[in-house]
Amino acid sequence: MLHLCSVLCVLCSVFCVLCSVFCVLSSGSVDAVTHDEYYDANRANWSERVAGHWMPDGYDAPGFIADKDRITGVVQFDHPYLGDLEGRSLLHLQCHFGMDTLSLARLGAAVTGIDFSPEAIAAARRLSDESGTPGRFVETELYLTPQSVVDEQFDLVYTGVGAINWLPDISRWGEVVATMLKPGGVFYIRECHPVAWSLRFPIEDPHDETLTIEYPYFEVADPISWDLDVGDVGSAVIENARIFEWNHGLGEIMGALTSQGLAIDLYEEHRFLEWQGQHHMVQGDDGRWRLPKHQRDLVPLMYSLRAHKM
Ligand SMILES: C[S@@+](CC[C@H](N)C(=O)[O-])C[C@H]1O[C@@H](n2cnc3c(N)ncnc32)[C@H](O)[C@@H]1O
Repeated sequence: MLHLCSVLCVLCSVFCVLCSVFCVLSSGSVDAVTHDEYYDANRANWSERVAGHWMPDGYDAPGFIADKDRITGVVQFDHPYLGDLEGRSLLHLQCHFGMDTLSLARLGAAVTGIDFSPEAIAAARRLSDESGTPGRFVETELYLTPQSVVDEQFDLVYTGVGAINWLPDISRWGEVVATMLKPGGVFYIRECHPVAWSLRFPIEDPHDETLTIEYPYFEVADPISWDLDVGDVGSAVIENARIFEWNHGLGEIMGALTSQGLAIDLYEEHRFLEWQGQHHMVQGDDGRWRLPKHQRDLVPLMYSLRAHKM
């Protein structure tokens, strides 16, 4: 899979952490695992990553604190799709420790970020305090967002870059998005393309450039499971190695939104990733990763989708 694990290093081009190249993965049977266990495992894995991501060779929180004008590469890319953020209320789903969220705040939005990792939320609050960039951060599981951020709706709901692969049910996700949006409000996601996530990864032979579909494109009940035991920052070993991820087809993603009364205004596909999803991808001057020229037009790697609630 191009792959669901590599989203762990969802990063702007400046501080892309290349988790995928470090990942030594094995898929295995998950028959005996309940949904709570999936979440517990994923939460533990993500929580363990926060300290490394904070560091200068990770997302570089100290640099973000020191440079009050810094906007992450992810948000620099997405900003034109979002329009003027001044004074708009924005909810960032699965915000990790909030560097993208606070970049959106620096562009004028009144931001709320949610994430289920207590370590990520604590770090996000610290980042907000120490950088002097206002933001509210709420610890909650994605599907419980309406119960955790109560009686509130937002002008904008923003998510992606390695977010929805952690969710087993894309229809329920669509319900959450719609519930949290004001009528007329805008939803935007930039995410790894499900075709890219269905590609075999890792590939054992470093000279093998074959792109092979190996994992389900469509949402299936059983997750892909991985042992991701090598840190994506530095050489730290991750003890909570087992993670569980799900792919969702484009029709399923769009259907999850349109069935909840959202109208899709924009859909674009991109030939780059924010991380090295295949070993033979090459990094551009913009820090983004692309397939070599002879393969560049074969598959989309990311997409941007914008919708509004009718
Ligand atoms: C790759 S990050 C998303 C991109 C983010 N903007 C960043 O800066 O990295 C994925 C985030 O999803 C969170 N997450 C995973 N499953 C979740 C769930 N079920 N509910 C809430 N948050 C979840 C993780 O804790 C992690 O912080």
